[in-house]
Amino acid sequence: MHPRYHQYLNPQPQILILDAGGQYCHLIARKVRDLGVYAEVRASETPAAELCAARGLIISGGPSSVYDVESPTVDPAIFTHGQAVLGICYGHQLMAHLLGGEVKKGEKGEYGLATLDLEATIDPLFTGLSGRQQVWMSHRDLVVSPPEGFAVVGRTDTCAVAAMANPGHRQYAVQFHPEVVHTTHGKEILAHFVFGVCQCEKDWAARHRAPVIEQEIRAAAGSRNVFFFVSGGVDSTVAFALCTRALGENRVRGVYVDTGLMREGETDFVGRMPGISVECAQEQFLGALESVTDPEQKRHIIGEEFVRVQERVIASRRLLDEHWILGQGTIYPDTIESGGTTKAALIKTHHNRVAGIQKLIEAGRIVEPLKSFYKDEVREVGRELGLPGELLDRHPFPGPGLAIRCLCSDFDGAVRQIPEGFVIPVHSVGVQGDSRSYAPVLAIDRMDHIYATELINRLSNVNRVIAEVAVHAPLAQLRVRSCSLTAERLARLRRADAAVRHLSQETGFDHRVWQFPVVLIPLGTPDSPDSIVLRPIHSVDGMTAQSVPMDPELLHRITKELLAQHGIAAVFYDLTHKPPATIEWE
Ligand code: XMP
Repeated sequence: MHPRYHQYLNPQPQILILDAGGQYCHLIARKVRDLGVYAEVRASETPAAELCAARGLIISGGPSSVYDVESPTVDPAIFTHGQAVLGICYGHQLMAHLLGGEVKKGEKGEYGLATLDLEATIDPLFTGLSGRQQVWMSHRDLVVSPPEGFAVVGRTDTCAVAAMANPGHRQYAVQFHPEVVHTTHGKEILAHFVFGVCQCEKDWAARHRAPVIEQEIRAAAGSRNVFFFVSGGVDSTVAFALCTRALGENRVRGVYVDTGLMREGETDFVGRMPGISVECAQEQFLGALESVTDPEQKRHIIGEEFVRVQERVIASRRLLDEHWILGQGTIYPDTIESGGTTKAALIKTHHNRVAGIQKLIEAGRIVEPLKSFYKDEVREVGRELGLPGELLDRHPFPGPGLAIRCLCSDFDGAVRQIPEGFVIPVHSVGVQGDSRSYAPVLAIDRMDHIYATELINRLSNVNRVIAEVAVHAPLAQLRVRSCSLTAERLARLRRADAAVRHLSQETGFDHRVWQFPVVLIPLGTPDSPDSIVLRPIHSVDGMTAQSVPMDPELLHRITKELLAQHGIAAVFYDLTHKPPATIEWE
């Protein structure tokens, strides 16, 4: 191996992240690596003796409360060795709890953007950052009194101890998330911790990733060949290209499965890619999903059907099992949101993390070259490989396809008026305080993101707020009706999605957003039984996201076009950030 690559394959972490189950735990490691310092994740309970070689420790967030039985903890000896420690969210609460402060359940949650008031301090962590600033929160429990020796250095309206410091012991803790992009000075705070407090030296570069990954692929495959499911999306295409480079074209086969759940024109687009053959399985998938309404069940069924297609393809093409392994374009959010790390809560089971796939993983029969990467890193790797921008800049599209954007219902129900708007009995998935939520949606009559955030924090029975844009009939008269995933409803969604995509590309709006799901919900009238929700978001890595406002002229054009389509009763606009909602509705 070229000596230059050696340090990238075997680096020693200078910063260790202790995983208390937070959705952003791995993101912390990633952000530290982006600063040029190698960092890794460890289980939170790892004995202090195994952590002491690192220059600093960061305790992550997590879904538990410090008072829960069996909630994650850390070896208290880490606080007595003089090692620098930073606690984030649950880590902040855990430090307060273990060091003698007090933690309580808050009267209301604080999810999404908040304003932090930071005191002027010469402390290395917050140097030069005093005053009011935007931070990102996701919690309900809070620290009400800091441990002895700690000074409170930051607060928000909801949280009186949002940042605390004990510089003499090099111990710091923040309730907000410096690792997510929406915390304006988050990167600087992490840099201050890594360089100012821990005195780390730069030892990690984002370059030369492709040769490292290719080496890992060769090691995982050994003498076996790789059979790859590609979707036409960025992740699987980049993973496929890496495998082809690592093993040579003859040892890698790509198959695209037409599940019947794809967007308009997609199968033609992917079918034109070199080295990829198309397997038609529409009836198989739609048959298996018939009369299924539960989102998790949908996801499981889709994942298992993929395994069945794989078995069929392997058998029919005589790809002998022991000579072949499966390649997947799994990226890190797929793993973490599927509850794939020790303590992370299950938010959604991604199609490439179902039981059949887990068995292959346990048998060492899977290669997932991108499984510790985030979407933006995957794009960088793709650029390093010279893949065309047309491919790399496509919006992400989830493996289960339109199935998770076509919402179903197992009951009929009316909308319910409350002072703030109408509660629609259509449930969608959210992520609040690192846990999964599944709750009804609130429709309001104005396009106001700030008001929507305030409502979500205040109302505990909804996890998503949408604005009514246009309706054929008054909202009070619309009903949710019992329905499942039929070919007719999928065609309706596909048509709506194609129209929205066309207008958004024509006006350049698609370049202003990271992803733009179009969602079909079973709310309407007997003549027009469904409604459409527009969900344009901005994100960097898919882990957090902001709902993006749209120019009224474009919104008007989109709405006019959608309401002219058969079967659509109303158009809504999703105002919710992630957290508390997830990007996809299911
Ligand atoms: P959520 O909805 O969890 O989505 O906020 C985060 C990102 O992941 C995509 N997503 C998936 N991608 N298989 C995938 O390949 C899946 O099962 C899956 N579920 C969600 C989603 O589109 C968004 O970009």
